[in-house]
Amino acid sequence: MSFPKSGTTWTQEMAWLLNNNLDFEKSKEDLVSRYLFLEFEAILYSNLDATFDEYVANAQKPRYIKCHLPVFMLPDELWTIKPKIIYTVRNPKDVIVSFYHHYRHLQGYSGTLHDFINAFVNDKVSYSPMNEHVLEYWKLSKKYENILFLFYEDRIRNLEQEVKKVAKFLEKEYSQEEIEEVCEHLTFDSMQKNSSCNNENLTKMLKEKHEYETKDEKFNFIREGKVGSYKKEMNEEEIKRVEEYMNFPDFKEFGFEYKF
Ligand code: A3P
Repeated sequence: MSFPKSGTTWTQEMAWLLNNNLDFEKSKEDLVSRYLFLEFEAILYSNLDATFDEYVANAQKPRYIKCHLPVFMLPDELWTIKPKIIYTVRNPKDVIVSFYHHYRHLQGYSGTLHDFINAFVNDKVSYSPMNEHVLEYWKLSKKYENILFLFYEDRIRNLEQEVKKVAKFLEKEYSQEEIEEVCEHLTFDSMQKNSSCNNENLTKMLKEKHEYETKDEKFNFIREGKVGSYKKEMNEEEIKRVEEYMNFPDFKEFGFEYKF
């Protein structure tokens, strides 16, 4: 679970491997086929052959589900049946830049970054508003043990520590050597070269679906993978606008802060 562009794919690969006894061979299967993307058909085709309930019920167990929906759209059973949920958050400035490139390459967006920032801070991009999205999961993670709340920036700074956190959450034990092997598999370079993680089939399919200006440009889903990429692309005024957006009054009350 996540707001888009927060490191979802990274989390997916990590959780899948740790929960599948580090089956590197099977992990070569496309990540898209190893996870059910709950709302994918609804966002892509604006319809569903089955309802979400049927869609999930028909999936093979154990079910690995990717989802960007806000808490209020999720079924109540999550808090009674308590499946394990990993939520990843990333600072909105980098999310915006990452989402902007995603929109340009995969959704045919032809506006400028400036326009995109405007849309973002006015809660007009998909899955908005981000602050509320994050805060609702944060609050639940304090209340329910079946939610692990992670920061993209922590993972960039200390991947091993974060992998160990996820292994513990999934109740899996691995040797130090195995953990290091997982970390190596999860580095930016390794994931970018890995076609199943770099979403190459998905990118190809979306590029073929639409006619737009970036259609023929190469796009890596695992694009830059840095903390602070926004500094290269946003001007001071734009940064200030996003910072104002991030200054969400309710965060203080619940002790939440974005990381950098
Ligand atoms: P950038 O566009 O800033 O590079 P999501 O999977 O939620 O769509 O998030 C995609 C973002 O996570 C991209 O950010 C991508 O590069 C980054 N990412 C994915 N795997 C990564 C890794 N192994 N190391 C660092 N960043 C990674």
